[in-house]
Amino acid sequence: MKSVQTIGVIGGGQLGRMFALDAKRMGYHVITLDPQQHSPCGQVADEQIVASYDDLAAIDELGRRSDVVTYEFENIAIESVRYLERHSYRVTPSSHVLEVTQNRLAEKRLARECGLPTAEFVPIRAPEDLAEAVRTVGFPAVLKTVLGGYDGKGQWRVESTREAEAALAAASAAELIFERLIPLRKELSVIATRDSHDRSVAYPVAENTHDRGILAMTIAPARVDPSIAAEAREMAATIGRRLAIVGTYCVELFLSSNDELLVNEIAPRPHNSGHYTIDVTQCSQYEQQVRAICDLPLSPPRMLSNAIMMNILGDGRGDRLDGVPELLSDPAIVLHVYGKRHAVARRKMGHFTMLVDGPIDEAAIERARTALAKLHWEA
Ligand SMILES: Nc1ncnc2c1ncn2[C@@H]1O[C@H](COP(=O)(O)OP(=O)(O)O)[C@@H](O)[C@H]1O
Ligand SMILES: [Mg+2]
Repeated sequence: MKSVQTIGVIGGGQLGRMFALDAKRMGYHVITLDPQQHSPCGQVADEQIVASYDDLAAIDELGRRSDVVTYEFENIAIESVRYLERHSYRVTPSSHVLEVTQNRLAEKRLARECGLPTAEFVPIRAPEDLAEAVRTVGFPAVLKTVLGGYDGKGQWRVESTREAEAALAAASAAELIFERLIPLRKELSVIATRDSHDRSVAYPVAENTHDRGILAMTIAPARVDPSIAAEAREMAATIGRRLAIVGTYCVELFLSSNDELLVNEIAPRPHNSGHYTIDVTQCSQYEQQVRAICDLPLSPPRMLSNAIMMNILGDGRGDRLDGVPELLSDPAIVLHVYGKRHAVARRKMGHFTMLVDGPIDEAAIERARTALAKLHWEA
């Protein structure tokens, strides 16, 4: 394989930005494609093609000018990845991986084909399908759009047929999934990277706390029994192999109140719950992605410290982040800000990693929460 000099990235968000920062450190030329000028990734990449994700002329230009193309976001047009494949441009992960992971039904069916449990679900294509879904799945349940959802968007928790009907009317999506609401002990995620020779590496299982569908905090490693952690990593490896993913990916899992592990989602890219790997491992999830797509050896992760990652969300009150000196008075904290101009309510604006010596206990979590509370958005 010809050695890579230029990497193309479809999508210009924070995941692309952190990928580009690592790729740049390793000497690569990075071109991103995003409709928004000066996107978070565009600010640190060598170049940005300003175009929508389904603009095939722009996608062709990206393919032509890159030695390999990847994407940092799964809600891009599948046709763009197929186009690159058809025209023999190198792109990874494949359109097959994207097709499965952007569709909640396909994702759950794939997990089941691998013999891995998921929450019970029934597809809803027409209002008439609801009665059957209620009979099979019951309540409480979550109704989700099959395509396009992220950060809890496009989901409705429902406890009765009346609520489900209202959600169905509000959803106005062609395809929905009616899913059992799982009583959760914990939410876990496994970040892994696989290369084209079927070699893979995985980070320790992480433990995630969400607030209204958006990741709020990640604790790494997860405070779970080693047998559960091993099973979670095995599940992620099975999925990676089955999909023949080349790159970094994430499997989100539910640990139910009766200690069963269920596959929730598969992300074909680095993941918010793996940001901590930048600060406390020798090779971040982004660098592993660079290595996988450039056909370089993967680096079995070493945890140099335990970590708590806190997301910094916008609140709509202003675009200037205040309290940074107070936050950084704690020397265990590493701050990352994504360069987004407007701190719209609940938008992911940045995060920090708090390095933790020894096991992560309630005092450490409280310290991270107190640190987050020092930050405010000002007009
Ligand atoms: N079936 C479910 N049971 C319990 N909690 C759920 C379920 N589905 C979603 N959630 C909660 O909502 C969050 C977001 O849902 P998810 O399916 O991961 O969608 P996305 O992350 O794409 O918005 C999950 O991390 C979890 O906290
Ligand atoms: Mg999710």
